[in-house]
Amino acid sequence: MARVQVAPLADIPNEVGLRLEIGEHRIAMFRVGDGIYAIGDRCSHAEASLAEGEVLDGEVECPRHGAAFSLADGDALTLPATVAVPVYKVDVEDDVVYLTIDEES
Ligand code: FES
Repeated sequence: MARVQVAPLADIPNEVGLRLEIGEHRIAMFRVGDGIYAIGDRCSHAEASLAEGEVLDGEVECPRHGAAFSLADGDALTLPATVAVPVYKVDVEDDVVYLTIDEES
């Protein structure tokens, strides 16, 4: 596991995806109110970037075919996606955002 410093909290846009590449991980980070979420950026249906999706009610809608994914647990909530995307642990310390990456995921 690796804990990676991402950015100052103030630099994370609200309800707009931020695409990160950390090693081999492509990650979509979202800020919704006081919550920061990080899920795999590649849609499990056909690999569109979820960071480019629209955020609504704790979900992100894939910009290509419209599948919805939970920001909290990565679950695929609507078709055509049926497989969850990875979720990354996020924490904020002294107004700086960190991600924990499990090298196995
Ligand atoms: S690529 Fe995301 S729903 Fe098809």
